[in-house]
Amino acid sequence: MCGIIAITTSSKVNVSKMITDGLKKLEYRGYDSVGIATINNGKINILKDAGTIDKVNNRLSLENLQGTIGIGHTRWATHGPPSRENAHPHSDCTGNIIVVHNGIIENYLELKENLLKKGHNFSSETDSEVFAHLMEEELKQKNHELSFINAFKRVLAKIEGTYAITLIHSEEPETIFLARKDSPLVIGIREDTKFAASDIPAFLEYTKKVIVLKNGEIATLTPQAVYIEKNGFRIQPKPVIVSWTAASAQKSGYPHFMLKEIHEQPIALRNTLKIDLNVINKASSKILDAERIIFLACGTSYHAALSGYHQFQRILKKKPVYKVIASEFESYSHLFDEETLIFAISQSGETLDVMKALSPARKLGASIISIANVVDSSIPRLSHISLYTKAGPEIGVAATKTHTAQVSLLARLALQLEYDTGLVEKNEFNQNLESLISEIPQVTRSVINQNEFKAKSLASIISNQNHAYFLARGMSIPVALEGALKLKEISYIHAEAFPAGESKHGPIAIVESMFPVIMIAPNDRTAKKMLSNAEEMRARGAYIISVTEKDHNIIERSDYTFIVPKTMSPLVRPITYVIPLQMLAYYAAVRRGFDPDKPKNLAKTVTVE
Ligand code: AGP
Repeated sequence: MCGIIAITTSSKVNVSKMITDGLKKLEYRGYDSVGIATINNGKINILKDAGTIDKVNNRLSLENLQGTIGIGHTRWATHGPPSRENAHPHSDCTGNIIVVHNGIIENYLELKENLLKKGHNFSSETDSEVFAHLMEEELKQKNHELSFINAFKRVLAKIEGTYAITLIHSEEPETIFLARKDSPLVIGIREDTKFAASDIPAFLEYTKKVIVLKNGEIATLTPQAVYIEKNGFRIQPKPVIVSWTAASAQKSGYPHFMLKEIHEQPIALRNTLKIDLNVINKASSKILDAERIIFLACGTSYHAALSGYHQFQRILKKKPVYKVIASEFESYSHLFDEETLIFAISQSGETLDVMKALSPARKLGASIISIANVVDSSIPRLSHISLYTKAGPEIGVAATKTHTAQVSLLARLALQLEYDTGLVEKNEFNQNLESLISEIPQVTRSVINQNEFKAKSLASIISNQNHAYFLARGMSIPVALEGALKLKEISYIHAEAFPAGESKHGPIAIVESMFPVIMIAPNDRTAKKMLSNAEEMRARGAYIISVTEKDHNIIERSDYTFIVPKTMSPLVRPITYVIPLQMLAYYAAVRRGFDPDKPKNLAKTVTVE
């Protein structure tokens, strides 16, 4: 939530263009208002307003601000509606201290009250502005000679909540001050230029050399140096070189990132399945050693977790396996102990709800395995074993390729568990593994090719509807949930998913003529019952859309059909069946005139509770 970028350089270029471009790459984190501040010849310049980056840039020419140091922010509103006043950067009363912030300062009201009593004037309703005034106040204290960094630390000690903070001061015209607690910040390193941002794609065009700032760390950046400390001790982290390319964070001819990312699935899954065997073995033995397993995630990652949950239950039989929406972890925290394994899944690796659950779990001795897409992010760092999807950066707010990559990693792990628990012999395991690795990329490509045009056509039919149901049974329920989430989050059609058998216990009441009902119907043990559920819906006038295989009888009872190939491994189904639904959501959003990459009210990485 909210995107931050800061740059300081000794090369004689104005950083405002790089900051504006970087903000565009971070727009998925929030896009209701935007702003930039630079220092030029000791003077602060700020431009900001409500609106998307392109709109505000066209109006104010953000990218023409002069100066070789600057900070920028794209906002997802928490405190105060989107407006010029509430847009970041914020400044103190003197206008010399400039701050951008991502997170929530929970005690801001109390801090603000004190500052108001001391005569400070506030220009916004945000929690973030207090930081600039607190700095001003600290620096005013003449009785102790405070260096700027010490004042910064004293302010950090006063605030409660979560933050990624970036600050500049007109009297320190080369230095950027940074601090993080629970909200992400990464540093990019080039010889003459240093970057800080909420996410790597913001500066990927200029450098792949990265340091991920950890919780509690404070940093200062000058064009030549990076200085990091924690609790008063200097830290010397080893920068990592990321494998993502600058092109991977660009649309490359596609109208939207989401469509590009849907098309990138074959390659994302192929790369993900190249996982090191040692890591898989380690994860498998951790799972087998545990007394119980708790899958923990949010949103789309939770739907991947549900696929894992079904597979683990099937394989581990009597071992208890739970599925928990991370923000609801407290109802399960009595299970957190040395015997418990938490399996956390998160694309960003920074989702606060997941982190809030992992911290107590770790303290109570639970083991943690995670799947994340962003290397070295917070959730992998809280984990004992980190598995990574190799999907490349995902910019569209709606997760697509990272979801199917998560599911493919869980499928790989399920195969390992089948073998390690003695459910299958070595030969069968080898065959299954070979077919999974060769089948997934090829079959995902053919599902995309065969269904994209159909998805586009169907979108023109259902884009006039206000509601849709997604029905499934058994292991296909996560697909239905994910299909419904995709459709509602980007096209704003109200969509709900139910176990198909449950639909007659209430949801069917609102079904009427042309009501879209999407049936996820593999030709498996659920086939006959799904057919009956389709009939029940049809009898009420529903418009039946099925995602199925070519020999399923449901085709005759459907108004519209997506055909997916029958795969050798049933583990591949949650991938093949979800792809037509991703495309349907995408084309429905476009058809309804919405930008699928930037759905309203949403941010890609949710770093507030
Ligand atoms: C995905 O389409 C959603 N925008 C959202 O539900 C997302 O999956 C959720 O916020 C979890 O994010 P994470 O995977 O980064 O933890």
